[in-house]
Amino acid sequence: MTQRVNLGPADQLREGRAMQVPAKRAGTAEAIAVVHAEDGGFYALDDECSHESVSLSEGFVEEDTLECPMHASAFCLRTGVPETPPAFEPVRTHLVTVEDGDLILHPGTPHPEA
Ligand code: FES
Repeated sequence: MTQRVNLGPADQLREGRAMQVPAKRAGTAEAIAVVHAEDGGFYALDDECSHESVSLSEGFVEEDTLECPMHASAFCLRTGVPETPPAFEPVRTHLVTVEDGDLILHPGTPHPEA
């Protein structure tokens, strides 16, 4: 059975913002960054940048990317692939759905476009 974590009401995460779900809560080895993108969709990436050990959830939501706060690599929210250097390794994506108004994180289930 796939893992599901209820993160509470979706409207608590404002558009254009990201939040960290700690590893313990996500039931994963690493924390996960959950993003409310400017297109209104919800996405999730591994929280740690693939360039250095920096929390992507402290970065910036720009269109369909999450930009690292340290050196500004912009990771695609659908694929986890960095679109700008210096990072070149992708980060994992995780599916996020909205069910009855709640955000449901599916750790370990990649976004369908990844
Ligand atoms: S630490 Fe993220 S781009 Fe360098």
